Amino acid sequence: MTELPQLDVYRPRYHFTAPAGWINDPNGLIQWNGKYHLFYQHYPFAPHWGPMHWGHAVSDDLVHWQHLPVALRPAPARVEGDMSGIFSGSAVDDNGVLTLVYTWFRDPKVHKGVPAEVQCIATSTDGINFAQYDDNPVVSVVPSAATAGFRDPKVWKDSDGLWKMALGSGHEGKGKVLLYSSPDLRTWTYLGVLCEGDGTNGAMWECPNLFPLGEKHVLLVSVNERGIKQGTRYMVGTFRDNRFYVETQGETDFGPDFYAAQVLTDAQGRVIMIGWMDRWGAQHPTEQDGWAGAMSLARELFLLPDGRLGSRPVAEVAGLRAGEPYRLENFVVVNGEDMPPQATGTSLEIAVEFEIEHATAREIGLEVRRSPLGDEKAVIRYDKVTGLLTLDRSRVGRGDGGCFSAPYVSQPGLTLKLRIFVDSSSVEVFTEDGQLAGSACIYPADRESVGVRLFASGGQVLVRSLKVWTLADAGING
Ligand code: FRU
Repeated sequence: MTELPQLDVYRPRYHFTAPAGWINDPNGLIQWNGKYHLFYQHYPFAPHWGPMHWGHAVSDDLVHWQHLPVALRPAPARVEGDMSGIFSGSAVDDNGVLTLVYTWFRDPKVHKGVPAEVQCIATSTDGINFAQYDDNPVVSVVPSAATAGFRDPKVWKDSDGLWKMALGSGHEGKGKVLLYSSPDLRTWTYLGVLCEGDGTNGAMWECPNLFPLGEKHVLLVSVNERGIKQGTRYMVGTFRDNRFYVETQGETDFGPDFYAAQVLTDAQGRVIMIGWMDRWGAQHPTEQDGWAGAMSLARELFLLPDGRLGSRPVAEVAGLRAGEPYRLENFVVVNGEDMPPQATGTSLEIAVEFEIEHATAREIGLEVRRSPLGDEKAVIRYDKVTGLLTLDRSRVGRGDGGCFSAPYVSQPGLTLKLRIFVDSSSVEVFTEDGQLAGSACIYPADRESVGVRLFASGGQVLVRSLKVWTLADAGING
């Protein structure tokens, strides 16, 4: 094993990170004056959570991002250890004025006798400099249905011409989303509980997003609680008379590192989702390099034929492909097969199609970021018997381990088509049909962990096609 040099080796080549310091949730996603804006929860001064700022970047294609100055800063701390800051929120275009709606968090240790979480706005006409509204907060009364949190406003212009705001909360062990309306983003009326959980899916729902998709509406919420898998959950249903009626629900991502996802609808009508590619409580070997946290690839959302939520990376991601892929067609893998050097690396897109039905192997898949001896690797594995697709990072080196699985619903005769994105410290796997997405941060310890291997454990599988592209550096991260 070759020990890594201390050279920021985990800095992604094409996933978004802050120039320095900590990031968590994506905030304020919007396409405004032709550019995509990404704001994000940010602590610029250390690689851990602290008094929150809103970092800011723009892009023409959701892939190449340009950093802009920090958009929102908290008031100076009153005392040492004051964690007050600017929590998550959203952005809207109010007649040409870019308006941010966010939660102002006042640390209860320091600020007594006021609600810890109230809602505020800030505006900009140039998309770079933001002024906080003089009469903030715009929502300061916490309704009785909101005893567990009152935060993360997601605002949109509704079909009735009014602004609507969804807020994350909870009460008596049930996650809740609260609904408000406003004619002008400054005076808000509480409309009641939009949707609530049944007590099994979180006592507090963070970062709600409600949006139309096809003939339905979708509600996203994020849950971070002991005993429940941390992540962003979706509900597909109907939005009627200020209530959301759930028909189908599930996870947006079966991996460990996809949280606080937010969506925007762009000029082409695409609904695009970005998540924080990390999790609360994770180990961050990148702290040694002064940063922690990254964003997922931008994903386009759609409804699957059976009503579930599907996702795939936005088409623009293909613009990262550096030249022609390494490609092979119709070959049989017996036990395992290492890919040649031109199909290995730390910045890859892999598209592979396995013929599952006649495979004699029970477990079929790929190893990426594989060390020469195979002791270090991230594994993507499909089990023919259980029908589970698994992302296994139990042997990746540093950081957290674990195996993460989801049932892949395949039809007889169908093949398993996977698209896998490997970056310096992450792997994201998608089934080509949009059913499953799985994201995991990985921190290989061995500099030589760049290998790719296809496997068919204890048998064989026909690989209909394999393409491996080296992906270019998106130039985001210096
Ligand atoms: C979600 C979250 C939000 C909050 C923000 C604070 O990850 O807990 O609910 O606004 O992070 O940074």
